[in-house]
Amino acid sequence: MLKDFVTYNGISIPAVGLGTWQSAPNDCYNAVRWALEAGYRHVDTAFDYLNEQAVGKALRDSGLGRDEYFVTTKLPADVKDAKLCEQRFFQSLDNLGTDYIDLYLIHAPWPWDQVGKDFTEGNIAVWEQLLEFKQKGLVREVGVSNFEISHIQAISRAVGVMPAVDQIYHFVGVTEPELREYCQQNGIVVEAYSPLGTGRLLSDERLTEIARGYGVSVAQLCIRYCLHKNTLPLPKSVHRERIAQNISLDFDISERDIEFLDSLEGKTV
Ligand SMILES: NC(=O)c1ccc[n+]([C@@H]2O[C@H](COP(=O)([O-])OP(=O)(O)OC[C@H]3O[C@@H](n4cnc5c(N)ncnc54)[C@H](OP(=O)(O)O)[C@@H]3O)[C@@H](O)[C@H]2O)c1
Repeated sequence: MLKDFVTYNGISIPAVGLGTWQSAPNDCYNAVRWALEAGYRHVDTAFDYLNEQAVGKALRDSGLGRDEYFVTTKLPADVKDAKLCEQRFFQSLDNLGTDYIDLYLIHAPWPWDQVGKDFTEGNIAVWEQLLEFKQKGLVREVGVSNFEISHIQAISRAVGVMPAVDQIYHFVGVTEPELREYCQQNGIVVEAYSPLGTGRLLSDERLTEIARGYGVSVAQLCIRYCLHKNTLPLPKSVHRERIAQNISLDFDISERDIEFLDSLEGKTV
């Protein structure tokens, strides 16, 4: 049994979440149903993935109670004002067909076509809005994604509240040590997105050899590695066997192999 992650507000997040980026609605519906059957209790989506409706329907059709699963969605990266934030949030609630969202994240500190530009003012405005949703009981927990240390500091200094979660690009070879350490020291749960490098790690011969030693797949090795780094992995698949495999993690990676995997920093994709 994998241990939940717990935010500094005491909210439990199930340890492996099903990723759904690039899952078309029909595939996504099946993937979520299979994931719940395999034991997942956490699904990660976003307004921009255009599959919130499929996620919501699959969760409702599962027969599980609303408090038995955890669903994350995200405010689009280009929304940097409170009014549009509110509109998008209620659209997500409606798409998911739920009264509340477990975790709501600011998808990125900048719109995707303006990566690196300063949107501090807009990030503060939407962060305040997210905290208001939380106060009203419309979300259980709030956080950010793709935020660097400076972005986290800017919103938390201005508003006085740290995000509970930062969802970041994280896998063997890209582990963001400085950001991860900063988050973990400040009680921010780090979620690892693209834990398989969006599939690019799966054919790595070095990883294949290590995985063979444990009788597991490269995917399982990579997901276990994220947990070893105390990051919450969000593997995506639309295939039933792979979905089940990705949460079957009953093995530990030896210190020696962890050292080797750590030595691949900057040398995988
Ligand atoms: N916050 C953000 O900005 C952000 C950005 C990127 C991703 N994310 C989140 O993180 C999730 C995961 O990241 P990702 O979608 O980039 O990719 P990923 O989980 O790193 O890799 C997914 C790829 O690996 C394949 N795969 C999965 N399990 C496998 C297995 N056991 N054996 C062989 N192949 C396997 C999948 O193929 P099939 O589907 O065909 O099985 C897919 O091609 C996303 O879906 C999303 O929820 C968030």
